[in-house]
Amino acid sequence: MKIGVFDSGLGGLTVVQAMTQVIKGAQIFYVADTKNAPYGEKTPEQILQYSLNITQYLINTHNIDALILACNTATSSAIKHLRETYPSLIIIGTEPGIKPAIEQTSTRKIGVLATPATLQGDKYQKLAQTLSLQKSVDIYEQACPGLVEQIEKGEMDSEETKALLEKWLRPMRENNVDTIVLGCTHYPLVSQSIEHIMDCNVSLIHTGEAISKHLLTLGSQKGHLNEGDVVVHIHTTGKIQIEIIETIIDTYENIHSIEVEHNSDS
Ligand code: DGL
Repeated sequence: MKIGVFDSGLGGLTVVQAMTQVIKGAQIFYVADTKNAPYGEKTPEQILQYSLNITQYLINTHNIDALILACNTATSSAIKHLRETYPSLIIIGTEPGIKPAIEQTSTRKIGVLATPATLQGDKYQKLAQTLSLQKSVDIYEQACPGLVEQIEKGEMDSEETKALLEKWLRPMRENNVDTIVLGCTHYPLVSQSIEHIMDCNVSLIHTGEAISKHLLTLGSQKGHLNEGDVVVHIHTTGKIQIEIIETIIDTYENIHSIEVEHNSDS
């Protein structure tokens, strides 16, 4: 199976990490659209255009069988349009895991951290509204402008990043939030700081595993055998911190080989 995966930058590599634990016998073509990052502070029209361009590139250049939007923000703005445009392609998006959070919480208080575009999008608003009817839960939503840039700069543990997180998380800690949804694929990269600020009394939800299992099911229906090696190709449209890529891919399992290339023309 040839799988195209994209995000605005490094964040989607956390989804690829989960994929490497489930998917075998695949070539993964990852696009980090760092030329246009961060997506979370762009308009829905801009995000849709970036998503269409990348999808067309992945189809033309790599003839992909499946597309993973490893980005909550792009999913919110583009998945509907992409599914209408490419009906025969397997297309899976990333959405904030509010459902598992609502099921898990004991204090009935959950937090959601996401980009401004994701929280403002209709998709998120409808999901939160529908789910909060099923169980009465207080949802503390927090947009995190600037956090993606900090992570892309490699400042996961800097004082500035910790101060931002402290400011955003304090209301959650003071109100007994016990479950936090990481509604942006970059945020697992600062999960240690989040756990520290929450005094470790928190469970963090991200959806990489669910996405990977869903991909396995849809892939099997199309004849994917799930045997053999996995090869990951990483393509960036702008600057990226190679050392951070190396740290993340060190955690990947069952990988045969990885190559990284930069091409600003795509
Ligand atoms: N990692 C992305 C997400 O899940 C995009 C973040 C951004 O570029 O703002 O939303």
